[in-house]
Amino acid sequence: MAEAMVGLKRTHRCTEVSLADAGQTVTVMGWVQTRRNLGSLIFVDLRDRSGIIQLVFDENSVGKEGFEKAYTLRNEFVIAVVGTVQKRSGAVNENLKTGEIEVVATQLRILSESETPPFPIEENINTKEELRLKYRCLDLRRPDIQSNIIMRSKVATLTRAFLANEGFLEIETPMLTKSTPEGARDYLVPSRVHPGKFYALPQSPQLFKQMLMCSGYDRYMQIARCFRDEDLRADRQPEFTQIDMELSFVDVDDVIDVNERLLAYLFKEVLGVTVSLPIQRMTWQEAMDRFGSDKPDLRFGMELKDITELVKNCGFGVFTQAVENGGSVRGINAKGQGAMPRKKIDALVDFAKGYGAKGLAYIAIQDDGTVKSSFSKFMTEEEMKAIIGALDGGNGDLLLFAADRNKIVWSVLGALRVELAEQMGLLDKNDYKFLWVTEFPQFEWSDEEERFVAMHHPFTMPMDEDLDKLESDPGSVRAKAYDIVLNGTEIGGGSVRIHQADVQQRMFKALGLSPEVANEKFGFLLDAFKYGVPPHAGLAYGLDRLVMLMAKRDSIRDVIAFPKVKDASCLLTNAPDVVDEKQLSELSIDIIQGN
Ligand code: AMO
Ligand code: AMP
Repeated sequence: MAEAMVGLKRTHRCTEVSLADAGQTVTVMGWVQTRRNLGSLIFVDLRDRSGIIQLVFDENSVGKEGFEKAYTLRNEFVIAVVGTVQKRSGAVNENLKTGEIEVVATQLRILSESETPPFPIEENINTKEELRLKYRCLDLRRPDIQSNIIMRSKVATLTRAFLANEGFLEIETPMLTKSTPEGARDYLVPSRVHPGKFYALPQSPQLFKQMLMCSGYDRYMQIARCFRDEDLRADRQPEFTQIDMELSFVDVDDVIDVNERLLAYLFKEVLGVTVSLPIQRMTWQEAMDRFGSDKPDLRFGMELKDITELVKNCGFGVFTQAVENGGSVRGINAKGQGAMPRKKIDALVDFAKGYGAKGLAYIAIQDDGTVKSSFSKFMTEEEMKAIIGALDGGNGDLLLFAADRNKIVWSVLGALRVELAEQMGLLDKNDYKFLWVTEFPQFEWSDEEERFVAMHHPFTMPMDEDLDKLESDPGSVRAKAYDIVLNGTEIGGGSVRIHQADVQQRMFKALGLSPEVANEKFGFLLDAFKYGVPPHAGLAYGLDRLVMLMAKRDSIRDVIAFPKVKDASCLLTNAPDVVDEKQLSELSIDIIQGN
């Protein structure tokens, strides 16, 4: 039966007790991890958020009633134990922080009982994620998830402290607001008081932080919840958290400087890892040309090589047509993979097709130097030699080629490069390779909308030397935008903002927004620009992604206490859910069935 806490006070978390406390009386509380009966002795591993300590129940110490009670303990019962610390009578457990000691119980209270949990509360169990998320409360007890959540808290606390010390003010911005254009769909909240009108949940605090700069706060930070209705992936959730910041009277280098020091501080304090500064920088163009990605993973090479010039007049139609259509032919060299069986190569071709490739051409150089290739029959011996040479191909190497529009070639080879690195075991989670990607294109052509859209957002400043091309050649305009990339994941991004009303108007125009629409959507920003705007710039990290990489996990779900699953539902609470007719009618909402 569950007993009360009266008269008991916890003195230590489980692993705060050490050999130095031998002979002392301590009171520990937590969950029963395991119980073992050894005749006259009962051993219990007690767990709390700090870890595990061994308890010993001996009738001579705990009394007959206490001993009998200990006999009823089962996994996940919550207990309080008063006892004496001693050096372990049995063997030392090297795997436990408290492996040298045990607590001999003198008092036991069962604070709460437990049914048998649907899965064991242990590290690295193979329980299906759906079950874990349905019983997230139990899942969150598992030591590996707990250490992620604790690490996340530490990162947040250290970030606040670091930025406060750098003169940043923490300011909250609204959750019920107007749509902010970060490119995803908005989550809408119907207004009861204004029938037919909706708030939008913020996709980021972007416009508010710019307003705060207009208001003179000069350095703002917030650990901000953001909402985006987009397709979910391992590194995307519909609600996620940004470490958001904005600074006045700065340019690109100032933002980069404070953020490099922040990252170095976090990695040192949390992981003991030294980040050597300055962090490498690369323009977007170079990143695409060398790695086929705007978030290249620099833990390994396998760089893209452009062979367009070598093959533009060759006899292989796939290559020459791509070149004729204004595209390119590029390849990568998977070192030592030349003996890859045909079946596995075919799987790579399918993988490439998933990224828009029409096919994937290959040259597999065997260990004895003979060559197997899907297109050698269309080539002269010299051409083959030149291609192999361009990719630095040697015996035992597998060379893979894509021919298409640049955008597709990059996306195919960029993805293939990472896939192969994964297969080849080149991705060491203990190796942290940071990179700033700079000079992003200002615009991206949207086939769907048949217009240019902002690659970052419409408030990003073009590079000074490209400003006059805003109207004449928007496709070539580069932005003062930067992303911070870690091991192939974009952990943050930001830009210098436009602070001149006239440039902002030109930007809206380039994006196909009429002055009326621009005014309706962002009038408040344009108004603010009339009354004295400091030059300003900022950046936001995805806190979830940052912690995911620090915790060496593959999904941000493992570092979010209550994440949602792929279809954006919450398995724990069953959200989203239907609501009462009454609630709907108060909100003037009719549900159209069949949608
Ligand atoms: P951006 O849209 O690049 O920039 O977002 C900043 C960072 O937030 C993270 N992120 C996400 N994390 C998890 N789930 C998502 N759905 C998700 N979407 C984005 C990424 C990304 O780098 N207002 C600008 C920042 C600025 O210009 O200052 C912004 O929101 O790690
Ligand atoms: P095909 O002539 O279509 O049978 O293609 C011959 C080889 O070229 C096959 O190995 C295809 O996978 C490959 N291939 C086809 N299209 C492309 C492309 N766009 N880029 C690279 N290789 C391709």
